[in-house]
Amino acid sequence: MKYQSLRGMKGILPEETPLWQIIEKTCDKNFQRFNYHEIRTPVLEMSDLFTRAVGGNTDIVSKEMYSFVDRGNRKVTLRPEATAAVVRACLQHNLISKDKLTKLFYFGPMFRYERPQAGRYRQFHQVGIETFGSASPAVDAETILLAVKIFRDLGLSDLEVDINSVGCNKCRPNFTQNLKHYLKGSIVKMCEDCHKRYQHNTMRVLDCKKPKCQHIIEEAPSTVDFLCDECRVDFESLLYILKNLGINFKVNKRLVRGLDYYTKTTYEIVSNVLGAQNAVCGGGRYDKLVSDLGGPEVPAVGFAIGLERLVEILKTTKALSSKPQAITLYFAPLGDKAKISAIEYLHKARQAGISADMDYFGKKLKAQLKNADRLGALYALILGDDELSRNTVILRDMISSSQTELSFEEALKKIK
Ligand code: HAM
Repeated sequence: MKYQSLRGMKGILPEETPLWQIIEKTCDKNFQRFNYHEIRTPVLEMSDLFTRAVGGNTDIVSKEMYSFVDRGNRKVTLRPEATAAVVRACLQHNLISKDKLTKLFYFGPMFRYERPQAGRYRQFHQVGIETFGSASPAVDAETILLAVKIFRDLGLSDLEVDINSVGCNKCRPNFTQNLKHYLKGSIVKMCEDCHKRYQHNTMRVLDCKKPKCQHIIEEAPSTVDFLCDECRVDFESLLYILKNLGINFKVNKRLVRGLDYYTKTTYEIVSNVLGAQNAVCGGGRYDKLVSDLGGPEVPAVGFAIGLERLVEILKTTKALSSKPQAITLYFAPLGDKAKISAIEYLHKARQAGISADMDYFGKKLKAQLKNADRLGALYALILGDDELSRNTVILRDMISSSQTELSFEEALKKIK
Protein backbone atom coordinates (compact mmCIF):
# COMPACT_ATOMS: atom_id res chain seq x y z
CA MET A 1 0.00 0.00 0.00
CA LYS A 2 1.56 3.31 -1.12
CA TYR A 3 -0.16 5.62 1.39
CA GLN A 4 -0.84 4.71 4.99
CA SER A 5 -2.18 6.80 7.85
CA LEU A 6 0.55 8.28 10.05
CA ARG A 7 1.85 6.24 12.98
CA GLY A 8 -0.38 6.63 16.02
CA MET A 9 -3.21 8.15 13.98
CA LYS A 10 -6.01 5.72 13.36
CA GLY A 11 -9.21 6.49 11.53
CA ILE A 12 -12.57 5.40 12.85
CA LEU A 13 -14.04 2.95 10.36
CA PRO A 14 -17.75 2.40 9.61
CA GLU A 15 -17.89 -0.80 11.70
CA GLU A 16 -16.89 1.23 14.78
CA THR A 17 -18.81 4.45 14.21
CA PRO A 18 -22.15 3.14 15.60
CA LEU A 19 -20.43 2.70 18.98
CA TRP A 20 -19.00 6.23 18.78
CA GLN A 21 -22.44 7.57 17.97
CA ILE A 22 -23.96 5.81 21.01
CA ILE A 23 -21.27 7.39 23.22
CA GLU A 24 -21.81 10.84 21.71
CA LYS A 25 -25.60 10.60 22.16
CA THR A 26 -25.21 9.42 25.76
CA CYS A 27 -22.87 12.34 26.50
CA ASP A 28 -25.16 14.86 24.75
CA LYS A 29 -28.19 13.67 26.74
CA ASN A 30 -26.34 14.00 30.05
CA PHE A 31 -24.75 17.35 29.17
CA GLN A 32 -28.20 18.70 28.45
CA ARG A 33 -29.55 17.37 31.76
CA PHE A 34 -26.66 18.92 33.67
CA ASN A 35 -27.08 22.23 31.75
CA TYR A 36 -23.80 22.21 29.81
CA HIS A 37 -23.50 24.08 26.50
CA GLU A 38 -21.29 23.11 23.58
CA ILE A 39 -18.20 25.05 22.54
CA ARG A 40 -16.04 24.29 19.49
CA THR A 41 -12.54 25.74 19.41
CA PRO A 42 -10.03 25.56 16.52
CA VAL A 43 -7.59 22.62 16.54
CA LEU A 44 -4.71 25.05 16.01
CA GLU A 45 -3.69 27.61 18.65
CA MET A 46 -0.63 29.72 19.44
CA SER A 47 2.01 27.39 20.99
CA ASP A 48 2.54 29.77 23.85
CA LEU A 49 -1.01 29.16 25.13
CA PHE A 50 -0.22 25.52 25.95
CA THR A 51 3.27 26.25 27.28
CA ARG A 52 1.77 28.75 29.69
CA ALA A 53 -1.33 26.73 30.66
CA VAL A 54 -0.14 23.11 30.71
CA GLY A 55 3.42 23.98 31.84
CA GLY A 56 6.76 24.14 30.01
CA ASN A 57 8.23 21.26 32.05
CA THR A 58 5.38 18.80 31.54
CA ASP A 59 5.84 15.86 29.16
CA ILE A 60 3.00 17.20 27.02
CA VAL A 61 4.71 20.53 26.33
CA SER A 62 8.36 19.49 26.42
CA LYS A 63 8.11 16.29 24.36
CA GLU A 64 4.72 15.76 22.80
CA MET A 65 3.42 18.85 21.04
CA TYR A 66 2.85 19.00 17.30
CA SER A 67 4.25 22.51 16.80
CA PHE A 68 5.37 24.32 13.68
CA VAL A 69 5.96 27.79 12.36
CA ASP A 70 3.17 28.81 9.96
CA ARG A 71 3.52 30.92 6.83
CA GLY A 72 2.94 34.06 8.88
CA ASN A 73 5.95 33.13 11.05
CA ARG A 74 3.77 32.32 14.07
CA LYS A 75 4.63 29.37 16.31
CA VAL A 76 1.45 27.29 16.38
CA THR A 77 0.45 23.94 17.91
CA LEU A 78 -2.19 21.30 17.22
CA ARG A 79 -4.03 21.27 20.53
CA PRO A 80 -2.79 18.52 22.87
CA GLU A 81 -5.83 19.11 25.13
CA ALA A 82 -8.82 21.44 25.17
CA THR A 83 -8.89 23.12 28.59
CA ALA A 84 -6.37 25.84 27.66
CA ALA A 85 -8.16 26.50 24.38
CA VAL A 86 -11.56 26.75 26.11
CA VAL A 87 -10.16 29.24 28.64
CA ARG A 88 -8.63 31.24 25.77
CA ALA A 89 -12.00 31.31 23.97
CA CYS A 90 -13.86 32.29 27.16
CA LEU A 91 -11.51 35.21 27.77
CA GLN A 92 -11.48 36.33 24.15
CA HIS A 93 -15.30 36.32 23.95
CA ASN A 94 -16.03 37.42 27.48
CA LEU A 95 -17.95 34.27 28.44
CA ILE A 96 -16.94 33.96 32.08
CA SER A 97 -16.97 35.98 35.28
CA LYS A 98 -16.59 35.41 39.00
CA ASP A 99 -20.25 35.62 39.90
CA LYS A 100 -21.87 33.36 37.30
CA LEU A 101 -21.54 29.70 36.42
CA THR A 102 -20.50 29.00 32.83
CA LYS A 103 -20.82 25.31 31.93
CA LEU A 104 -19.27 24.19 28.64
CA PHE A 105 -18.66 20.88 26.88
CA TYR A 106 -16.67 19.85 23.81
CA PHE A 107 -15.94 16.87 21.56
CA GLY A 108 -12.94 16.68 19.30
CA PRO A 109 -9.52 15.44 18.23
CA MET A 110 -6.38 16.17 20.30
CA PHE A 111 -2.77 15.63 19.24
CA ARG A 112 0.19 14.39 21.27
CA TYR A 113 3.42 13.03 19.83
CA GLU A 114 3.62 10.11 22.27
CA ARG A 115 5.04 6.63 21.65
CA PRO A 116 2.00 4.80 20.30
CA GLN A 117 0.80 1.72 22.17
CA ALA A 118 -2.55 0.16 23.10
CA GLY A 119 -4.83 3.01 24.20
CA ARG A 120 -2.25 5.67 23.37
CA TYR A 121 -2.43 7.46 20.04
CA ARG A 122 -0.97 10.59 18.48
CA GLN A 123 -4.40 11.73 17.37
CA PHE A 124 -7.11 10.80 19.83
CA HIS A 125 -10.51 12.16 20.75
CA GLN A 126 -11.80 13.65 23.94
CA VAL A 127 -15.19 14.64 25.17
CA GLY A 128 -14.90 17.03 28.08
CA ILE A 129 -16.49 19.67 30.23
CA GLU A 130 -15.26 22.86 31.87
CA THR A 131 -17.20 24.68 34.60
CA PHE A 132 -16.24 28.26 35.44
CA GLY A 133 -17.26 30.57 38.29
CA SER A 134 -17.52 28.49 41.46
CA ALA A 135 -14.94 27.33 43.99
CA SER A 136 -17.47 25.12 45.76
CA PRO A 137 -16.54 21.43 46.16
CA ALA A 138 -20.20 20.73 45.31
CA VAL A 139 -19.30 21.67 41.73
CA ASP A 140 -16.30 19.30 41.75
CA ALA A 141 -18.72 16.61 42.93
CA GLU A 142 -21.19 17.48 40.16
CA THR A 143 -18.51 17.03 37.48
CA ILE A 144 -17.51 13.63 38.92
CA LEU A 145 -21.15 12.61 39.14
CA LEU A 146 -21.64 13.60 35.49
CA ALA A 147 -18.68 11.48 34.33
CA VAL A 148 -19.86 8.51 36.40
CA LYS A 149 -23.41 8.93 35.06
CA ILE A 150 -22.16 8.83 31.46
CA PHE A 151 -20.25 5.61 32.16
CA ARG A 152 -23.22 4.08 34.01
CA ASP A 153 -25.58 4.92 31.13
CA LEU A 154 -23.17 3.09 28.84
CA GLY A 155 -23.44 0.01 31.06
CA LEU A 156 -20.11 0.57 32.88
CA SER A 157 -20.67 0.71 36.62
CA ASP A 158 -17.48 -0.96 37.84
CA LEU A 159 -14.90 1.71 36.92
CA GLU A 160 -12.70 2.98 39.73
CA VAL A 161 -12.86 6.68 40.67
CA ASP A 162 -9.52 7.89 42.11
CA ILE A 163 -9.44 11.22 43.94
CA ASN A 164 -6.74 13.40 45.45
CA SER A 165 -6.05 17.02 46.37
CA VAL A 166 -2.82 18.64 45.19
CA GLY A 167 -3.35 21.76 47.32
CA CYS A 168 -3.00 25.37 46.27
CA ASN A 169 -0.35 28.06 45.91
CA LYS A 170 -0.42 28.54 49.68
CA CYS A 171 0.23 24.95 50.81
CA ARG A 172 2.02 23.38 47.86
CA PRO A 173 5.41 25.08 48.37
CA ASN A 174 5.59 23.57 51.86
CA PHE A 175 4.75 20.12 50.46
CA THR A 176 7.29 20.47 47.63
CA GLN A 177 9.98 21.41 50.09
CA ASN A 178 9.23 18.32 52.20
CA LEU A 179 9.15 16.07 49.16
CA LYS A 180 12.48 17.46 47.93
CA HIS A 181 13.97 16.85 51.34
CA TYR A 182 12.68 13.24 51.32
CA LEU A 183 13.99 12.57 47.79
CA LYS A 184 17.36 14.20 48.27
CA GLY A 185 19.18 11.01 49.25
CA SER A 186 17.41 8.63 46.87
CA ILE A 187 17.02 10.67 43.69
CA VAL A 188 20.27 9.18 42.26
CA LYS A 189 18.58 5.76 42.26
CA MET A 190 15.59 7.05 40.30
CA CYS A 191 14.99 7.26 36.51
CA GLU A 192 16.20 10.11 34.29
CA ASP A 193 12.73 11.62 33.99
CA CYS A 194 12.48 11.78 37.78
CA HIS A 195 15.81 13.63 37.92
CA LYS A 196 14.32 16.34 35.68
CA ARG A 197 11.05 16.38 37.60
CA TYR A 198 12.96 16.68 40.86
CA GLN A 199 14.59 19.88 39.56
CA HIS A 200 11.66 21.56 37.82
CA ASN A 201 8.38 20.02 38.93
CA THR A 202 9.06 17.91 42.01
CA MET A 203 5.45 16.86 42.72
CA ARG A 204 5.34 15.02 39.37
CA VAL A 205 7.89 12.48 40.68
CA LEU A 206 4.91 10.89 42.48
CA ASP A 207 3.36 10.03 39.11
CA CYS A 208 6.33 7.97 37.84
CA LYS A 209 5.33 4.42 36.81
CA LYS A 210 8.89 3.02 36.43
CA PRO A 211 9.46 -0.04 38.68
CA LYS A 212 12.84 1.21 39.95
CA CYS A 213 11.20 4.41 41.30
CA GLN A 214 8.17 2.71 42.84
CA HIS A 215 9.53 1.73 46.26
CA ILE A 216 10.95 5.24 46.77
CA ILE A 217 7.64 6.87 45.80
CA GLU A 218 5.66 4.53 48.06
CA GLU A 219 7.22 6.00 51.19
CA ALA A 220 7.18 9.63 49.97
CA PRO A 221 5.10 12.32 51.71
CA SER A 222 1.63 12.98 50.25
CA THR A 223 0.03 16.27 49.22
CA VAL A 224 -3.05 15.60 51.40
CA ASP A 225 -0.89 15.61 54.53
CA PHE A 226 0.23 19.18 53.80
CA LEU A 227 -3.06 20.83 52.81
CA CYS A 228 -3.83 24.28 54.25
CA ASP A 229 -7.13 24.67 56.16
CA GLU A 230 -9.10 25.83 53.12
CA CYS A 231 -7.87 22.98 50.87
CA ARG A 232 -8.43 20.39 53.62
CA VAL A 233 -11.99 21.55 54.35
CA ASP A 234 -12.81 21.56 50.61
CA PHE A 235 -11.33 18.08 50.15
CA GLU A 236 -13.26 16.67 53.12
CA SER A 237 -16.48 18.32 51.87
CA LEU A 238 -15.99 16.80 48.44
CA LEU A 239 -15.51 13.30 49.88
CA TYR A 240 -18.59 13.79 52.06
CA ILE A 241 -20.77 14.91 49.12
CA LEU A 242 -19.58 12.01 46.97
CA LYS A 243 -20.39 9.53 49.74
CA ASN A 244 -23.87 11.03 50.04
CA LEU A 245 -24.35 10.74 46.29
CA GLY A 246 -23.49 7.03 46.50
CA ILE A 247 -20.35 7.33 44.36
CA ASN A 248 -17.68 4.77 45.18
CA PHE A 249 -14.22 6.30 45.14
CA LYS A 250 -10.70 5.71 46.36
CA VAL A 251 -8.42 8.41 47.73
CA ASN A 252 -5.25 7.94 45.71
CA LYS A 253 -2.52 10.03 47.34
CA ARG A 254 -0.23 9.56 44.33
CA LEU A 255 -2.63 11.11 41.81
CA VAL A 256 -0.91 14.37 40.81
CA ARG A 257 -1.81 14.39 37.06
CA GLY A 258 0.42 15.37 34.16
CA LEU A 259 -0.69 18.98 33.63
CA ASP A 260 0.53 21.85 35.77
CA TYR A 261 -2.66 23.88 36.06
CA TYR A 262 -4.37 21.81 38.75
CA THR A 263 -5.14 23.15 42.22
CA LYS A 264 -7.00 21.26 44.98
CA THR A 265 -9.09 18.40 43.51
CA THR A 266 -7.61 15.99 40.97
CA TYR A 267 -9.36 12.83 39.80
CA GLU A 268 -9.13 9.99 37.32
CA ILE A 269 -11.50 7.23 36.37
CA VAL A 270 -9.63 4.04 35.58
CA SER A 271 -10.53 0.66 34.13
CA ASN A 272 -8.76 -2.63 34.74
CA VAL A 273 -9.40 -3.81 31.16
CA LEU A 274 -7.17 -1.11 29.66
CA GLY A 275 -3.68 -2.28 30.66
CA ALA A 276 -0.91 0.28 31.26
CA GLN A 277 -2.87 3.25 29.89
CA ASN A 278 -5.77 2.66 32.26
CA ALA A 279 -7.25 6.17 32.71
CA VAL A 280 -10.38 6.70 30.69
CA CYS A 281 -11.16 10.08 32.27
CA GLY A 282 -9.00 12.72 33.94
CA GLY A 283 -9.86 16.01 35.49
CA GLY A 284 -9.75 18.38 38.40
CA ARG A 285 -9.89 21.93 39.62
CA TYR A 286 -7.77 24.73 38.15
CA ASP A 287 -8.54 27.91 40.07
CA LYS A 288 -5.51 29.89 38.84
CA LEU A 289 -5.52 29.13 35.13
CA VAL A 290 -7.95 31.86 34.06
CA SER A 291 -5.94 34.57 35.82
CA ASP A 292 -2.64 33.02 34.65
CA LEU A 293 -3.86 33.44 31.08
CA GLY A 294 -4.62 37.11 31.66
CA GLY A 295 -8.22 36.95 32.87
CA PRO A 296 -9.90 37.71 36.19
CA GLU A 297 -9.70 35.34 39.20
CA VAL A 298 -12.33 32.79 38.13
CA PRO A 299 -12.21 29.33 39.73
CA ALA A 300 -12.83 26.36 37.43
CA VAL A 301 -13.11 22.58 37.32
CA GLY A 302 -13.53 20.04 34.53
CA PHE A 303 -12.65 16.66 33.03
CA ALA A 304 -11.96 14.96 29.72
CA ILE A 305 -12.83 11.39 28.71
CA GLY A 306 -10.58 9.60 26.19
CA LEU A 307 -12.97 8.22 23.59
CA GLU A 308 -10.66 5.60 22.02
CA ARG A 309 -10.14 4.11 25.49
CA LEU A 310 -13.86 4.22 26.23
CA VAL A 311 -14.58 2.41 22.95
CA GLU A 312 -11.97 -0.23 23.86
CA ILE A 313 -13.65 -0.84 27.23
CA LEU A 314 -17.08 -1.09 25.65
CA LYS A 315 -15.78 -3.59 23.09
CA THR A 316 -14.18 -5.88 25.67
CA THR A 317 -17.01 -5.78 28.16
CA LYS A 318 -19.65 -6.15 25.43
CA ALA A 319 -21.77 -3.72 27.45
CA LEU A 320 -23.06 -2.49 24.10
CA SER A 321 -23.02 -4.14 20.73
CA SER A 322 -22.01 -2.10 17.73
CA LYS A 323 -24.78 -2.98 15.27
CA PRO A 324 -24.16 -1.84 11.70
CA GLN A 325 -26.64 0.71 10.42
CA ALA A 326 -29.42 -1.00 8.39
CA ILE A 327 -31.73 0.39 5.72
CA THR A 328 -35.47 -0.24 5.43
CA LEU A 329 -35.92 -0.60 1.70
CA TYR A 330 -33.81 -1.83 -1.21
CA PHE A 331 -34.79 -1.31 -4.85
CA ALA A 332 -34.00 -4.13 -7.23
CA PRO A 333 -34.60 -2.88 -10.81
CA LEU A 334 -34.37 -5.41 -13.66
CA GLY A 335 -33.25 -3.66 -16.86
CA ASP A 336 -32.35 -0.09 -17.89
CA LYS A 337 -35.94 1.25 -18.08
CA ALA A 338 -36.71 -0.09 -14.62
CA LYS A 339 -33.53 1.51 -13.30
CA ILE A 340 -34.72 4.99 -14.38
CA SER A 341 -38.07 4.46 -12.60
CA ALA A 342 -36.30 3.04 -9.54
CA ILE A 343 -34.21 6.22 -9.21
CA GLU A 344 -37.44 8.24 -9.16
CA TYR A 345 -39.13 5.90 -6.64
CA LEU A 346 -36.01 5.84 -4.47
CA HIS A 347 -36.11 9.62 -4.22
CA LYS A 348 -39.83 9.51 -3.28
CA ALA A 349 -39.23 6.85 -0.62
CA ARG A 350 -36.46 8.91 0.97
CA GLN A 351 -38.66 12.00 0.90
CA ALA A 352 -41.30 9.97 2.75
CA GLY A 353 -38.71 9.41 5.50
CA ILE A 354 -37.76 5.82 4.59
CA SER A 355 -34.06 4.90 4.56
CA ALA A 356 -33.51 3.33 1.16
CA ASP A 357 -30.92 2.43 -1.47
CA MET A 358 -30.84 0.62 -4.82
CA ASP A 359 -28.75 -1.51 -7.14
CA TYR A 360 -26.87 0.60 -9.70
CA PHE A 361 -24.92 -2.27 -11.25
CA GLY A 362 -27.68 -4.02 -13.24
CA LYS A 363 -27.05 -7.28 -11.35
CA LYS A 364 -29.22 -10.42 -11.57
CA LEU A 365 -32.20 -10.54 -9.19
CA LYS A 366 -30.60 -13.17 -6.94
CA ALA A 367 -27.48 -11.04 -6.45
CA GLN A 368 -29.58 -7.94 -5.78
CA LEU A 369 -31.61 -9.72 -3.08
CA LYS A 370 -28.39 -10.96 -1.52
CA ASN A 371 -27.19 -7.39 -1.36
CA ALA A 372 -30.50 -6.24 0.20
CA ASP A 373 -29.99 -8.88 2.85
CA ARG A 374 -26.40 -7.82 3.50
CA LEU A 375 -27.59 -4.23 4.03
CA GLY A 376 -30.19 -5.42 6.56
CA ALA A 377 -33.13 -4.22 4.43
CA LEU A 378 -36.57 -5.17 5.72
CA TYR A 379 -38.13 -4.91 2.26
CA ALA A 380 -37.05 -5.12 -1.36
CA LEU A 381 -38.97 -3.52 -4.21
CA ILE A 382 -38.54 -5.50 -7.40
CA LEU A 383 -39.20 -3.65 -10.64
CA GLY A 384 -39.24 -5.44 -14.00
CA ASP A 385 -40.62 -4.59 -17.47
CA ASP A 386 -43.93 -6.39 -16.72
CA GLU A 387 -44.49 -4.40 -13.54
CA LEU A 388 -43.57 -1.16 -15.34
CA SER A 389 -46.19 -1.79 -18.02
CA ARG A 390 -48.83 -2.51 -15.31
CA ASN A 391 -47.67 0.50 -13.25
CA THR A 392 -46.97 -1.76 -10.26
CA VAL A 393 -44.03 -3.00 -8.19
CA ILE A 394 -43.33 -6.26 -6.34
CA LEU A 395 -42.86 -5.78 -2.61
CA ARG A 396 -40.79 -8.53 -1.01
CA ASP A 397 -40.76 -8.97 2.75
CA MET A 398 -37.10 -9.85 3.34
CA ILE A 399 -37.81 -11.72 6.56
CA SER A 400 -40.69 -13.99 5.42
CA SER A 401 -39.70 -13.93 1.69
CA SER A 402 -43.39 -13.37 0.78
CA GLN A 403 -44.06 -11.16 -2.25
CA THR A 404 -47.06 -8.99 -3.29
CA GLU A 405 -47.69 -7.03 -6.45
CA LEU A 406 -49.18 -3.57 -5.78
CA SER A 407 -48.84 0.09 -6.78
CA PHE A 408 -45.77 2.00 -5.58
CA GLU A 409 -47.96 4.27 -3.39
CA GLU A 410 -49.57 1.22 -1.71
CA ALA A 411 -46.14 -0.27 -1.15
CA LEU A 412 -44.92 2.93 0.52
CA LYS A 413 -47.95 3.00 2.81
CA LYS A 414 -47.35 -0.62 3.81
CA ILE A 415 -43.68 0.00 4.56
CA LYS A 416 -44.38 3.11 6.63
P1 HAM B 1 -5.57 14.15 30.35
O1 HAM B 1 -5.51 13.27 31.53
O2 HAM B 1 -4.30 14.54 29.72
O3 HAM B 1 -6.40 15.45 30.79
O4 HAM B 1 -6.48 13.46 29.24
C1 HAM B 1 -7.78 13.03 29.54
C2 HAM B 1 -8.02 11.66 28.95
O5 HAM B 1 -7.69 11.66 27.55
C3 HAM B 1 -7.12 10.57 29.52
O6 HAM B 1 -7.66 10.07 30.73
C4 HAM B 1 -7.17 9.52 28.42
O7 HAM B 1 -8.36 8.74 28.52
C5 HAM B 1 -7.24 10.37 27.17
N1 HAM B 1 -5.90 10.46 26.55
C6 HAM B 1 -4.88 11.27 26.89
N2 HAM B 1 -3.82 11.08 26.08
C7 HAM B 1 -4.17 10.12 25.21
C8 HAM B 1 -3.51 9.47 24.10
N3 HAM B 1 -2.27 9.80 23.72
N4 HAM B 1 -4.19 8.52 23.41
C9 HAM B 1 -5.46 8.19 23.76
N5 HAM B 1 -6.13 8.77 24.78
C10 HAM B 1 -5.50 9.72 25.50
C11 HAM B 1 -6.65 16.48 29.96
O8 HAM B 1 -6.48 16.47 28.77
C12 HAM B 1 -7.30 17.64 30.68
N6 HAM B 1 -7.52 18.70 29.70
C13 HAM B 1 -8.63 17.20 31.32
C14 HAM B 1 -9.29 18.32 32.05
C15 HAM B 1 -10.35 19.04 31.62
N7 HAM B 1 -8.94 18.79 33.24
C16 HAM B 1 -9.75 19.81 33.56
N8 HAM B 1 -10.60 19.97 32.57
